[in-house]
Amino acid sequence: MKICFIGTGYVGLVSGVLFSDLGNSVTCVDNNHEKIENLKNGIIPIFEPGLDELVIKNYNAKRLFFTTDINHAIKNSDIIFIAVGTPTAKDGVSADLKNVYAVAQTISKNINKFKIIITKSTVPVCTGDEVEKILRKKNSSSKFEVVSNPEFLREGEAIRDFRYPDRVVIGSNNPKKTIPILKKLYEPITKKGAKFISTSRRSAELIKYAANAFLATKITFINEIANLCEQVGSNVEDIAIGIGTDARIGSRFLRAGPAYGGSCFPKDTKALTKIGKKFKTHMSVVETVIKSNEKRKNNLADKILNILKNPKGKKVGFLGVTFKANTDDMRDTQCLKIFPKLLKKGVKLSYYDPTGEKKELKKIRFIKNTKEILNNNDLVVIHTEWDEFRSLDFKSIKNKGVKIFDMRNLYQPNEFLNKNIKYYSIGRPTNEKKA
Ligand code: NAD
Ligand code: UGA
Repeated sequence: MKICFIGTGYVGLVSGVLFSDLGNSVTCVDNNHEKIENLKNGIIPIFEPGLDELVIKNYNAKRLFFTTDINHAIKNSDIIFIAVGTPTAKDGVSADLKNVYAVAQTISKNINKFKIIITKSTVPVCTGDEVEKILRKKNSSSKFEVVSNPEFLREGEAIRDFRYPDRVVIGSNNPKKTIPILKKLYEPITKKGAKFISTSRRSAELIKYAANAFLATKITFINEIANLCEQVGSNVEDIAIGIGTDARIGSRFLRAGPAYGGSCFPKDTKALTKIGKKFKTHMSVVETVIKSNEKRKNNLADKILNILKNPKGKKVGFLGVTFKANTDDMRDTQCLKIFPKLLKKGVKLSYYDPTGEKKELKKIRFIKNTKEILNNNDLVVIHTEWDEFRSLDFKSIKNKGVKIFDMRNLYQPNEFLNKNIKYYSIGRPTNEKKA
């Protein structure tokens, strides 16, 4: 089957490469010329563990192609995935669908034989109906089917998540025509155990938002429990184990931390409240989650200022600035909300990140290694859970009286009992002695 992905970002590139790795002929299209030229030369635009080798392998095997020629790619494909970005619109809440509709217009002009058009981008319920309307203006409905196939991969774990997903969701209003084709496409994955879930198109669109909003709620819930733990001297990790072992609750996504961030949970929770408004349904839980998550970033900045006591002129070094480990994605990362508040109080900031210097942080000094961060600051903040921060060389710290704020609970408080280090973490007693 000839496939094309329109939009070669985190989702389009990863899924495109992995479908080609399963033996399909895949063309990845993007309107960013530099990105496409780089990919042809083996230069990968994002940090995603294991992706480089797969791109090079499949490109050399001539199963994977990169192009900016969208018209040719559409004409030449049987299955077209739309994987363009759907960021938050200017109103600050809705999903901006201009990329999706622009692509639908272009597809509409290039339908030369029957095609399945699949929205893999995260789009509000009923967007498929709109895409179908655009296509119908120029084409007879027997020439195409519009299907929703939401993507559930996580950045940093994208290859594993694509190969071994819990489920594949296909939403189609003409299942007789589309499901056998898409079942076949996904067969190498479902054979390994992933559930194949066939629904209406609107249900599939809504499943995606419900999943992200539910996970964001779970994280926000444990973060609020962590706040309570700090007041009463309990340990949030024990609470997470104590509730997570109940199969009805489940143990995953119960790690308390510095609020949820990233390119999806923040934008998708907001968009879901807007979808609710459009259909006169108050999404009150999700609204509260968004507020609580925003407040958390502010509270964490306050906690840092409290740890410093007199913040003016104090030096604070951040370890990791992305929204989680194993990605270089800076979209909606928590520290972008924390830094301005610290700078305003005269704190001198610096950071190290395993994926290098960030254009988003031009005013903040980038340090090339963890050692310098550990040695030259009054407070070190562990902001992301990269493996290289799990075995920091605290013994090498010359600066006596340094403080550590571990926002990911990578260490146990009692590890610092006999060190000259004051250790703070999330939802656990400071320098607690474990029984
Ligand atoms: P991204 O910004 O990394 O990539 C989108 C790409 O689309 C960019 O390279 C951009 O240049 C290209 N593009 C935009 N308009 C185009 C057009 N008209 N023609 C051709 N190319 C165009 O975005 P992403 O993170 O891959 O997300 C894509 C979609 O998938 C979003 O809806 C997102 O919510 C969803 N999603 C993302 C993830 C994730 O982990 N990032 C996971 C699941 C779902
Ligand atoms: C998330 C979802 O997990 C994916 O299923 C989904 O496809 C994707 O959004 C999307 O729609 O784009 P991602 O944003 O890559 O994936 O990363 P997650 O691992 O979900 O983490 C999101 C945020 O929550 C991060 O800031 C992370 O640190 C935080 N988090 C996660 C916690 O604070 N605690 C946890 O237990 C888990």
